[in-house]
Amino acid sequence: MKITFFTHSTYTLEIHKFLLLVDPFFSDNPILKNDSLLFDKCMNFFKKVDYILLTHAHYDHVLDTEFFAKKFESLVISNYEISNYFENKGLKTYGMNYGSFISFPFGKLKYVWSAHSSVFNDGTYGGNPGGFLLHTDQGNIYLSGDTSLTYEMKLIPKFGNLKISILPIGGIYTMDVEEAIIASDFLQCKKVLGVHYDTFETIQINKKEAKNKFSENKKELFLPKMGETIWI
Ligand code: NI
Ligand code: MN
Repeated sequence: MKITFFTHSTYTLEIHKFLLLVDPFFSDNPILKNDSLLFDKCMNFFKKVDYILLTHAHYDHVLDTEFFAKKFESLVISNYEISNYFENKGLKTYGMNYGSFISFPFGKLKYVWSAHSSVFNDGTYGGNPGGFLLHTDQGNIYLSGDTSLTYEMKLIPKFGNLKISILPIGGIYTMDVEEAIIASDFLQCKKVLGVHYDTFETIQINKKEAKNKFSENKKELFLPKMGETIWI
């Protein structure tokens, strides 16, 4: 599986021939807004998008959903309320809720608990926020979405070992670095790809310190640059 990080909580997963885009946030992203070269570089990456996974309805996670879904005829996968919202805008959607694994051509997906909130910018209710547990023949991965540390994470490894977890580390709205280290204990997963940091003034982190804290706890924190790829 190939994971490519952009900024914030936006990344792609490439599993066999399928490209999954998670929480697309480009057009009003403070990092990209005043840098058209960087913005174009991101856009040029996308030759196709088969699926768009949305963790919750906050604008920094759903902002460019319509753009990509219309351009590439992607299937939008999210909770029931978010799926309805985008279905009403003419997109192809698949709505789910907390519960069983659901099979897709790229693997099995389970919408899982996150401790956060979920509302669209226009005030529309965005259902319960969540993350995704993804099982594939190339390994299992947990995408927590925005969340605080929660005991619910202890359930995740009961379904199988994880190769990597993608967790927020910027604090204020989500877990910070210290909480993410405890989360990785709960998840029994030593490899963490950190997201949701540095995008806004309020969530700046010291990357070197963060990586050191992880290695002191015998864990590895990946903080890829924009457009950088990790293979798992
Ligand atoms: Ni959020
Ligand atoms: Mn967020």
